[in-house]
Amino acid sequence: VKYAVFGTATVGRTIAGRLDELGHEVIMGTRDPEETVSRATQDAYGNPPWSAWSAEHPRVALPMFAEAAGAAEVLVNATSGTASVSVFSALPASSVDGKTIVDIANPLDFSGGMPPALDPVGTDSLGEQLQRAMPSARVVKTLNTMGAHIMVAPATLTGDHTVFVSGDDPAAKVEVAALLEEFGWPSGSIVDVGDITTARGTEMLLPLWLRLWGAFGNADFNFHIQR
Ligand SMILES: NC(=O)c1ccc[n+]([C@@H]2O[C@H](COP(=O)([O-])OP(=O)(O)OC[C@H]3O[C@@H](n4cnc5c(N)ncnc54)[C@H](OP(=O)(O)O)[C@@H]3O)[C@@H](O)[C@H]2O)c1
Repeated sequence: VKYAVFGTATVGRTIAGRLDELGHEVIMGTRDPEETVSRATQDAYGNPPWSAWSAEHPRVALPMFAEAAGAAEVLVNATSGTASVSVFSALPASSVDGKTIVDIANPLDFSGGMPPALDPVGTDSLGEQLQRAMPSARVVKTLNTMGAHIMVAPATLTGDHTVFVSGDDPAAKVEVAALLEEFGWPSGSIVDVGDITTARGTEMLLPLWLRLWGAFGNADFNFHIQR
């Protein structure tokens, strides 16, 4: 399977790096490859410039979003949540037709300061907005409820903990569950919550996640559903 990971920050690099390590073909997408490559300073989260990450992952190319989408079979959304709908709406329908879109983004609005607000919230979700923007694609929301380092290495935390999947297409969710298992998630930890409207619930875990992050002082934790 050839993956295109949209987003060159913490989540995009973490997912693309893990896919590369697992031997998958992976490319990344960005707004302006030249500008991203020429950034010389750390980003807002303290990540080194793109060139440093790229030097360690020479097989991972960095075209513009549309070119990356056209070249891949599965797309991963690791763009900032307020930009995701415009990024994916701009893609030609032919480059997303029938493809699985793994949506990891959270619609966090930082314009009012910290903690960020969720927008949309309650009666809609970013997962649904993306599915509406790309009706011929198969959007699966997952991995958005934990820190990036846990997404690809769940054994970082001892004991059982949970990853949620939401989406309208059962076959796409099976594909995504198989990818999660490749990342190291035991099948019993993968909870299929239901159709894409259930992304409302997993996105609404973010206000709690952010406050726990503040309380614990680090992101080394995850949610665990005990039945
Ligand atoms: N950080 C985490 O541990 C974590 C955990 C769970 C979920 N998430 C979610 O995952 C997503 C990625 O998070 P992140 O921390 O890696 O980085 P981020 O800063 O939220 O997003 C960075 C990416 O978004 C793109 N972007 C930003 N503004 C844009 C715009 N106006 N138009 C088009 N693209 C734009 C950037 O594109 P360029 O490459 O062109 O600069 C960059 O690739 C977010 O939605 C976040 O809520 C993050």
